[in-house]
Amino acid sequence: MRVAAFISGRGSNMVALADACATPGFPAQMALVLSNVVDAPGLGIAAERGIATETVPHGPYKGDRAAHERAIADILDQHHIDLVCLAGYMRILSPWLVEAWRDRIINIHPSLLPAFKGLNTHARVLEVGVRWHGCSVHFVREAMDEGPIIAQAAVPVAADDDAESLNRRVLAAEHRLYPHALGLVASGAARVQGERVALRGHPLPETTINPPEADA
Ligand code: GRF
Repeated sequence: MRVAAFISGRGSNMVALADACATPGFPAQMALVLSNVVDAPGLGIAAERGIATETVPHGPYKGDRAAHERAIADILDQHHIDLVCLAGYMRILSPWLVEAWRDRIINIHPSLLPAFKGLNTHARVLEVGVRWHGCSVHFVREAMDEGPIIAQAAVPVAADDDAESLNRRVLAAEHRLYPHALGLVASGAARVQGERVALRGHPLPETTINPPEADA
């Protein structure tokens, strides 16, 4: 399976996915890293690893989201991409792209969905005072941070946490969870059935990584 990672920034999740793809026997190949931000640091990291990169800045398409995404979809076709992994891609996808690529776009979000959709999840988690936080990988739907959940990882919230320490803990879990979820999708083990993810040959606990460990 040929995978494209979409990034807008540092690309640490993209790197985690690329590392997994470079592992012998992994069922996906990182074929493209695409960014809407020309100087996204992750682009250089991908290029150093010999991964094809493309940039499609959204500026020139101001007001015409679908035109921006048609340009992106053409690039995906050119690179024969099968699956898109959103990895810190800071654009909401239009219904057009979500439909054209239905069940072929996945996203990682730094919360235990459906709680804490949107931005600044770590600060909001601390504000509310929940004891557990985490991250989720899900198929993308039109509504932001919604869609069938593939896998989740939970991390505890410590009494002395601030948003930064929580971010570090969750990010470490993301770097383990996203490759795991990609493996489930790329191998065909995880499929959308009736807006839930059905797992073939994987008991449910295997979609949960908890607590995060140094090595998967
Ligand atoms: C991650 O926290 C991810 O969950 C969110 O954006 C951040 C991207 O970080 N969607 P990175 O670019 O992968 O380092």
